[in-house]
Amino acid sequence: MIRSLVLLAVLVLTAGITGSAAAATAHPGDPAVGRIMVYTCHGCHGIPGYRNAYPNYPVPKIAGQHYQYLVTALNEYRSGDRAHPTMRTQAESLSEADIANIAAYLSSLKK
Ligand code: HEC
Repeated sequence: MIRSLVLLAVLVLTAGITGSAAAATAHPGDPAVGRIMVYTCHGCHGIPGYRNAYPNYPVPKIAGQHYQYLVTALNEYRSGDRAHPTMRTQAESLSEADIANIAAYLSSLKK
């Protein structure tokens, strides 16, 4: 019983990975997933439509940035090439797929 549950889980996961790989070819990331993920970014980056929790905190505008720019910036924070303790903490927990999804969503927004 347990074994078949594990097998089922593996099958479901594999299907998920295959599905997102297919989606990745059609689009560099999934904006719908990214939209949920940027929830934690709002407080600082104040994406339009949301209230900025820190109006006087100087943060760059990331909504409407180019997809590749966002991917590069987040990867650089993640690897430490771009030094910024706050953003390093943010980016460290992101996978490559997370970054692609976030960048797909943010780059789909109007400037
Ligand atoms: C605690 C506040 C805070 C949070 C939360 C935060 N950021 Fe940032 N972010 C900053 C600051 C400050 C900078 C400027 C850092 C620098 O000078 O390199 C920055 C820079 C960036 C940049 C580079 C922009 C540019 O024009 O170079 C990107 C991209 C970015 N953040 C994305 C995100 C994403 C995606 C999230 C959510 C996963 C997030 N940030 C969450 C504060 C925050």
